[in-house]
Amino acid sequence: MTAIGIHDLELATGHHVLELTDLAESQGVVPGKYILGLGQSQFSVLSEDEDIVTMGAAAALPLLERNGIEGIRTLLFATESGVDQSKAAGVAALRLLGLPSGVRTVEMKQACYGGTAALQAAIGIVARAPEEKVLVIASDNARYLLDSPGEPTQGAGAVAMLVSADPALLEIEPINGISTTDVDDFWRPNDSTTAVVDGHLSVGAYLDALSDAWKDLEGRGGPAIGDIDRILYHQPYTKMAKKAQQRLREVTGEEISTALNPGDEVDGRDTGLETGSRYNRRLGNSYTASLYAGLASLLDHDDELAGKRIGLFSYGSGCVSEFFTGIVQEGYREVRAASHVEDVLDARVPVTVAEYRDLHNAPHGTSTDQVTPAVTTGPFRFAGVADQARRYEVR
Ligand code: CAA
Repeated sequence: MTAIGIHDLELATGHHVLELTDLAESQGVVPGKYILGLGQSQFSVLSEDEDIVTMGAAAALPLLERNGIEGIRTLLFATESGVDQSKAAGVAALRLLGLPSGVRTVEMKQACYGGTAALQAAIGIVARAPEEKVLVIASDNARYLLDSPGEPTQGAGAVAMLVSADPALLEIEPINGISTTDVDDFWRPNDSTTAVVDGHLSVGAYLDALSDAWKDLEGRGGPAIGDIDRILYHQPYTKMAKKAQQRLREVTGEEISTALNPGDEVDGRDTGLETGSRYNRRLGNSYTASLYAGLASLLDHDDELAGKRIGLFSYGSGCVSEFFTGIVQEGYREVRAASHVEDVLDARVPVTVAEYRDLHNAPHGTSTDQVTPAVTTGPFRFAGVADQARRYEVR
């Protein structure tokens, strides 16, 4: 069988960054609650002239520069912060990226699971036509109400992945474990620009879905826990990955380490909980992109991955989840050397809490005509709304 998986991967994020210490202090909250209790140090904040389209296209651009566009016949754009109820965000991204018209383009949605749905659909397309490649873009702006418990778990980010036969980074294995349950833990109604969430219910739903998806994987003959070298989880905040690791430890009986922060006591086999959380800790929640930001972090901070099996748990509230596995390819370090995620994170421009609150309250998702101020310096910008349609520019 042809090996299919992720050939290359790139990350982009918003123009601004907020320090969670500043947010905590402004609210009279002990910063430790956010830094250690949630495992988050910062989150990205979008400027008014960027959105999921500009972030997604910015993530995809270096991939196309490195790999060319030959063979790309499909663009799957996963998001749960969509900017239109009808038109796929990927269509605007296609134009910004200069991709030809012979690329079928679709938006995929099921909360944070959408990125994995797109990845699995891409694998199916390549299995049928191995000469084709699929560009998967997962891009989200995670927004909760100001002063709500979800506020410190906001963030923004996009990951673009090129899916192909004979991939250079990660071959995705065919057996997966799936769990779908109808639960109202988190959603975003059509008339709201922020998510509605029952936070503690969502944590329980996530953990139950993990147990269920793992059992499904086991029942379908997936790899034993002892044969999985590293494990990555969807990270709405990095402490959630620690909770997931604790749950998997209970379900499997395998002593996998739950050490999340540098310096934490290592209480079992190291499966990369800390190395896989370094980018997410600084990005905040990036919804569909979060698991794949974790993958970038692991690949960039672990030199011993060649030939190793990674387990990946994807969770999308509502809820759909999947536990699947992949094998890291021999030349992964050379591929990742071209990417500079740390620089992308360092380049963000800090905002004060007052500035962040103004940006949060600025118009989102409106069809009222407007011109956005030019703030960002990236390759693409959201110029505003004219005749009720969103307008994007290439710099
Ligand atoms: N020092 C260290 N730790 C501290 C502390 C301090 N000074 N003060 C509190 N803590 C710890 C608490 O003990 C707690 O730890 P545990 O979870 O291990 O018990 C942690 O900080 C958080 O404290 P609370 O539970 O009191 O926090 P909260 O109720 O204010 O909010 C939350 C937490 C419910 C997760 C909230 O941030 C939220 O609603 N977030 C959005 C929803 C979410 O992310 N859910 C995750 C699962 S759903 C999903 O994954 C999909 C998705 O992307 C949204």
